Amino acid sequence: MAESIAPFLRRCALYLLATALLLGCGDASKPAPPVAQDFLTRHWVDPLPPQGAPPTSFSALEASLSPDSCGQCHAEQFEAWRTSLHSKAVGAGLLWQLMLMNQDQGNRCLRCHAPLAEQKALLALELGWPNAPKQAPPEYVSADLAHRGLVCAACHLREHRRFGPPARGRVVSGGVAADGAHVASATSAPSPDGTDRSTNNPYAPHGGFTIAPAFQDSRFCAHCHQFPDDGPRIAGKLQEDTYQQWLASAYAQEGPGKRTCQGCHMPDRQHVWRGIHDQKMTRSALDIELQLIDLGDGRHEARGKLRNSGAGHHFPTYMVPKVEVQFVRIDARGGVHFLASHIIGWQIDTGITREIADTRLAAGETREYRQIMQAPVSGDWRVEMILRVAPAEHYERIYSDSLTRVSQFPPAVEPVLRRALREARATRYELARIVARPQSRATAAIAN
Ligand code: HEC
Ligand code: HEC
Ligand code: HEC
Ligand code: HEC
Ligand code: HEC
Repeated sequence: MAESIAPFLRRCALYLLATALLLGCGDASKPAPPVAQDFLTRHWVDPLPPQGAPPTSFSALEASLSPDSCGQCHAEQFEAWRTSLHSKAVGAGLLWQLMLMNQDQGNRCLRCHAPLAEQKALLALELGWPNAPKQAPPEYVSADLAHRGLVCAACHLREHRRFGPPARGRVVSGGVAADGAHVASATSAPSPDGTDRSTNNPYAPHGGFTIAPAFQDSRFCAHCHQFPDDGPRIAGKLQEDTYQQWLASAYAQEGPGKRTCQGCHMPDRQHVWRGIHDQKMTRSALDIELQLIDLGDGRHEARGKLRNSGAGHHFPTYMVPKVEVQFVRIDARGGVHFLASHIIGWQIDTGITREIADTRLAAGETREYRQIMQAPVSGDWRVEMILRVAPAEHYERIYSDSLTRVSQFPPAVEPVLRRALREARATRYELARIVARPQSRATAAIAN
């Protein structure tokens, strides 16, 4: 058993290396504004301390850490978050692995998947970890909090204080700041600790909130979407490198073309976080072009071109998803002739030790595939370039591999592992199908 779970434990140990905050690993030539950095270092301290007792003035609704409670007043954010993968960050894929881990190992994963101390305590109880809390959870901790994944409170609450981006389009009521100073409105100057003293207003729900401009900084997301420079690498490349990929892209340059993580993944502040699992979002990453060139004597060349024009990092950014680019010729009778297939992605073995291939497209990069074929000189045939996405391909391989050894695991693991595999496979979809026909000597099908 030790041997069979080794890849996960190794991965876990690797994550362990990666727990240092990322904030130091930005582009050294452009030091980050220290205020946002100080704030983020504190905001994302690992492990997060418990929230503690809520202010006595709070109603049960204001004190509750449950996303459902936030949703009572912040319906728009709640409805969007509910559809996002952040709300599903504690699923079968994580749980079956937690069942094979001790508390220390498990907490390394929870740093990103369910980071609140209150969530870790609930999971410790559920998994029978030895230092699970003895007393029942406090009233403001809902029983299902751990299974709700990356909840509102994990990003927005510290010691029951709300932190958020500068308010837009409305003047926030004045009040008394944490340091006791009277604040007229949200536009007052930032305080030395990097938070605008905003509306710590006793008359607003949950005492108002504290403005933290760092919520609009890409480094806010880097805490979980980027390993530090000394984190685990394969073939010299950090296993999670999204923030650095973004820094190297045109989107990170100051100016009208600048787009932060939030700019693309939370458009208009919507809490949607669409990514590779979403057809429309993924389609927006690519310009796709297919050309069919008649070379004479029944020879034709299909030229497929893909450009990563819309992802602010590699397409795809992680090792997990794979995109298949398949070329087929379809004859007049509908017969399908396979021509070629290519994979876009970072292919790593299931032990996470060895690179098989890295064919990701960096931001702005173009790739062309050429396929020469013999086809009827005339007639009603066509070439199709079909793009298919397997958003969880790497996990599909890990889970199938592990199923062959499932008899060595505690019996409770198997159904969870099977569910994880089923769910991972179910995320596959067809991204696009581009068609070119041979009517003219050179036809181009361009789809954007
Ligand atoms: C009883 C209603 C109510 C509940 C419950 C509630 N909020 Fe609020 N929240 C408000 C109101 C009203 C404001 C605006 C306060 C102001 O303008 O001073 C606000 C402001 C905020 C802000 C700042 C918004 C901005 O513009 O930056 C954040 C972030 C926030 N709440 C998060 C939460 C979270 C997270 C929860 C759940 C843990 C929660 N709230 C629960 C009513 C509520
Ligand atoms: C506390 C850790 C944490 C923070 C902070 C965080 N994320 Fe995530 N994010 C995750 C985890 C864990 C997942 C995977 C959830 C799952 O599928 O189980 C995820 C998933 C995503 C996805 C979905 C990817 C896909 O496969 O389709 C996107 C997009 C995303 N995050 C963007 C962001 C952005 C933008 C920010 C900053 C505003 C951010 N995240 C902040 C942990 C975090
Ligand atoms: C640095 C933050 C971070 C840590 C630590 C982390 N993850 Fe994740 N995890 C992510 C992000 C981001 C994603 C989404 C992108 C992807 O699929 O790789 C994710 C996705 C996953 C998924 C696929 C989605 C799902 O929920 O089924 C699984 C399974 C998973 N992680 C398991 C683990 C395990 C097990 C550990 C501990 C050994 C761990 N993770 C540690 C950030 C993290
Ligand atoms: C992964 C971290 C994360 C999670 C989880 C999260 N938020 Fe946010 N939230 C943000 C960020 C980042 C912003 C600022 C985005 C921007 O300015 O582009 C924000 C903005 C807000 C705002 C201000 C919106 C506005 O239009 O001014 C509110 C209110 C809010 N969040 C409430 C919530 C609630 C309620 C939940 C849970 C249902 C939640 N958030 C979950 C990161 C998060
Ligand atoms: C210019 C828009 C843009 C910016 C900026 C951007 N993304 Fe993305 N992101 C996308 C698109 C489009 C996709 C879907 C295609 C893909 O997976 O590459 C995506 C996919 C993802 C995924 C899905 C997993 C995967 O393997 O691809 C994650 C996680 C993610 N982005 C996180 C981030 C983070 C964190 C940042 C900031 C450091 C960021 N993104 C910046 C557009 C953007």
